[in-house]
Amino acid sequence: MICLFLSIFAYIFQSGWTGVNERTFIAVKPDGVQRKLVGEILHRFERKGFKLVGLKLVQASEELLREHYWDLRSKPFFTGLLSYMSSGPIVAMVWEGLDVVKTARKMMGETNPADSLPGTIRGDYCVEVGRNVIHGSDSVESAQKEISLWFHQNELQCWENSANHWIYN
Ligand code: RTP
Ligand code: MG
Repeated sequence: MICLFLSIFAYIFQSGWTGVNERTFIAVKPDGVQRKLVGEILHRFERKGFKLVGLKLVQASEELLREHYWDLRSKPFFTGLLSYMSSGPIVAMVWEGLDVVKTARKMMGETNPADSLPGTIRGDYCVEVGRNVIHGSDSVESAQKEISLWFHQNELQCWENSANHWIYN
């Protein structure tokens, strides 16, 4: 019930979620799907203690990708980025938890896998910046925008995590 109320509040006021209800948009990019990394990536976020609230396999349209990466439209790699991101299905996810936006970025590693530490997703599973297997929102504000771009409100599930008492004190 509280979850439903917060969900409506966040939707109406476009306020984003805060505290343990913070949310981020994570996507396993087409190379991650082709390389069978979906299970591994899901496993890492699950084991960390974050809560899965949305999950789907999508073939992203050019329109959606243009909007998603609008801030990068003037970059020389923009066209290549769109064709990479539309080269196959993407696993789109929404994860929830305390500081999930910042923590997910740490779990992912640096944009360029060569700069990513071992133990991070990009540090462990990829080599080149143009095939870096995962996307994660870079701020709470972009998370809010990206979640509403990739998901309909009714695709996000409100459910009680029975492990919450063992994750938060
Ligand atoms: P993402 O948005 O995918 O989570 O990545 P990010 O925040 O770490 O990096 P961002 O600057 O937002 O770049 C988006 C994606 O564009 C590709 N890229 N290619 N060829 C290049 O120099 C270059 N730079 C960035 C990467 O796939 C990067 O994740
Ligand atoms: Mg980015």
